[in-house]
Amino acid sequence: MSEQKATNITAHAHSVSKEERSKLMGHKGCVLWFTGLSACGKSTVANAVDRKLHDAGVHTTVLDGDNIRFGLNKNLGFSAEDRAENIRRIGEVAKLFADAGVVAATAFISPYRADRDKVRALMGSGGFVEIYVNASLETCEARDPKGLYKKARAGEIKGFTGIDDPYEAPEKAELVLDANTKGIDELANEVVAYLKANGYIS
Ligand code: ADX
Repeated sequence: MSEQKATNITAHAHSVSKEERSKLMGHKGCVLWFTGLSACGKSTVANAVDRKLHDAGVHTTVLDGDNIRFGLNKNLGFSAEDRAENIRRIGEVAKLFADAGVVAATAFISPYRADRDKVRALMGSGGFVEIYVNASLETCEARDPKGLYKKARAGEIKGFTGIDDPYEAPEKAELVLDANTKGIDELANEVVAYLKANGYIS
């Protein structure tokens, strides 16, 4: 699905560099890649981080599950191939934001390690912050805000992540958030602290 189809095309060098854009913004652009099971708190933490950074004068955006699946990726479902394409497109979009100097948070299950690692490779060194929102299946299933785990258990949804479809936890995430025991505000503060400690924001 993601093979190179067009021929006779040439990449164009930009006249304004990434460094110049960062200087204007006052911080570095990067991708905050939140990953974890459905209902683990990815979007909620991403939005809490967004609020904190925005209030501190950082230029941010959030790309999250359902909004993207209603628009850009409306032609994709939940097969392994479609999930890979979902993540590939989101990675490309997030990179465009990061290159423009924005801190772009993404919140998708992104269950396959290989798909996440392709986005990491696309970003090159330093611009990809993988954040594993670690909540157990028991925790997520107990929350079940959309009633989807219940449907999956009843066999009404096939191939639901964590039930009858895989989730491959990150092995080298920059940050692991303990969403079983900690609250949203504490987890969001951990992300902001990481960005400060690693020179993305001041
Ligand atoms: S991903 O696997 O391709 O990264 P994404 O984050 O975009 O998934 O979408 C996940 C959301 O879609 C879930 O939170 C849930 O609301 C919904 N959903 C519907 N079907 C499934 C399914 N089979 N597996 C996981 N999530 C599903």
